[in-house]
Amino acid sequence: MKINLKVNGILEEVEVDASAVLLDVLRDKLHLTGTKEGCREGECGACTVLIDGQPVDSCLYSAAAAANAEIETVEGISANGLSAIQKAMVEEGGIQCGFCTPGIVMTLTALLRQNADPTPQDVAVALNGNICRCTGYSRIVSATLKAAKNAMAQKAGDAHA
Ligand code: FES
Ligand code: FES
Repeated sequence: MKINLKVNGILEEVEVDASAVLLDVLRDKLHLTGTKEGCREGECGACTVLIDGQPVDSCLYSAAAAANAEIETVEGISANGLSAIQKAMVEEGGIQCGFCTPGIVMTLTALLRQNADPTPQDVAVALNGNICRCTGYSRIVSATLKAAKNAMAQKAGDAHA
């Protein structure tokens, strides 16, 4: 079947099996390999992308069900250089092997859009579906708080400019 997928603002017509999951279509048909395949069971969050702004496990999400929705991948949020949360992750050491990072970045991107000033608890709750085996999470939490603080400072600076 042919479906239209809107990925990072670009409409793509792709031929897919009715049973295809979004992860495979993104990686294999659209060559967007920033989205990672981990468990394929909805447990690790490595495959997280945003659909209409909400984080989903693309390994379990039907590609056909994503037709005509707004899909965002890590490539989209870094199209103009590293995003604020990506920069903070680098600065705070929230990345070690990096395999979990694209999924975590997508989850945190959604969080920061919905909650400009999250608490450590808010970050922990948001990351409930993302497993990182390397970092112990505390640096990821610090990175999120730093990105939020930077964004608020920038906004305040813009308001006074
Ligand atoms: S690969 Fe999708 S949740 Fe693990
Ligand atoms: S940095 Fe290695 S799994 Fe998170």
